[in-house]
Amino acid sequence: MSSPTSPLSRRGRKLVDAPPRPRYIAEHFERVHRPWDPDSRPDGYISLCIAENKRMAERLVRCLDRYRDVPSAVLGYDDVTGNLAFRRNLAAFMSRSFLGRAVDPARIAVLAGAGSVLEILFYVIADPGAGVLVPTPSYAGFWPDLEIRDGLSIVPVECSSRNDFRLTPALLDEATANADVPVGTLLFTTPDNPLGRVYSRAELQDVLAWAEGKGFHVVFDEIYALSVFGDRPFVSAASLRTELGARVHIVWGFSKDFGASGLRCGVLISGNDDVLRAVSELAYWSGCSGHTQYLLSQLVSDRAVVDDYIKRMRTDLKQAYQRVTQSLDASAIAYLPAEAGFFLICDLRPHLDTPTWEAEQRLWRRILDEANINLTPGEACRIAEPGFFRLCYASESEAAVQVAIQRLGRVLGGRD
Ligand SMILES: Cc1ncc(COP(=O)(O)O)c(C=O)c1O
Repeated sequence: MSSPTSPLSRRGRKLVDAPPRPRYIAEHFERVHRPWDPDSRPDGYISLCIAENKRMAERLVRCLDRYRDVPSAVLGYDDVTGNLAFRRNLAAFMSRSFLGRAVDPARIAVLAGAGSVLEILFYVIADPGAGVLVPTPSYAGFWPDLEIRDGLSIVPVECSSRNDFRLTPALLDEATANADVPVGTLLFTTPDNPLGRVYSRAELQDVLAWAEGKGFHVVFDEIYALSVFGDRPFVSAASLRTELGARVHIVWGFSKDFGASGLRCGVLISGNDDVLRAVSELAYWSGCSGHTQYLLSQLVSDRAVVDDYIKRMRTDLKQAYQRVTQSLDASAIAYLPAEAGFFLICDLRPHLDTPTWEAEQRLWRRILDEANINLTPGEACRIAEPGFFRLCYASESEAAVQVAIQRLGRVLGGRD
């Protein structure tokens, strides 16, 4: 209810007074209109904090331009969890390209981005006040996705740099035992953001067996499934069992592997009919536009085009990773090797004046103010220890990334 002093509801007021948007994102949107340009703005802003792959954008636009014969049906209401033809094409595409097994289109729901999928899925599988286990370091957006409207509490499962950030069943047990809220769900990301790591079949088996043993729901966020450039192949949770299981759910979308976050198309695959029914009751408020579904449906069923796109995207991503790591090496900036995604973790612990979150914040601010580059502070990813920063290298041109790393090297006092 609004009060005489505020025209907003209490929850509206809370969003204004304590905005959940992290500081580094707010800074990004303040600076993004004054970007680096070698000629006109050599000291301009360079963003290294947004997990996006824009390197294939021109090619994708040309691919989508082929599908101009848009039927008038896209203008009307349709199934709120996705047009049936789109879900059929998606099922075929996802099955052959990364799930490792066939999936029934009836098990698929399409919504406005993976964030919407997560918010709605957790709304229907966990009650307000419940805890959700999330291995950390983690994607920073899970907190707003699950906490703001779903009223859940994320229970971090802290993986430590001492153990190479490995997740083990023992860590899951410990986090569950120490949680001060009831826990019944686990959200697990592979390939991982921010470490850029792919989990092996054996590791995934351990996670799934652990969740099954507890009777927990487990949500596998596989949004980077196709953005893998290392030697280890991606393994989908879908391929672990002959049936998905009533408490197993997979999330994917077009924001990352297709660099199309602006189209807002996320995908849920659930092994549970009731979950899908409940999701469909909320989907109306988070639907994906009919036009977008049509374009993407054409794309994923145009086998030659989509396969060529993915092949090129992965080769290009590998090259981008090699270039960024060469530059980091040349500037003597330490990082953790990655095998997937568009980011890596830089280890700037030696550059903190004290091993505290305040010192990490100060270093982030200094890098932003002196070099006009924005890294994601490890604290936003809930890394257990201060001094790590995520560096995203595919949302800017290669030239911009090179300049950014030279600037970073100068601020840190290394070579460039
Ligand atoms: C692991 C993970 N899941 C979900 C999302 C959200 O994706 P979308 O833009 O489709 O909502 C992101 C975006 O960065 C992500 O990294």
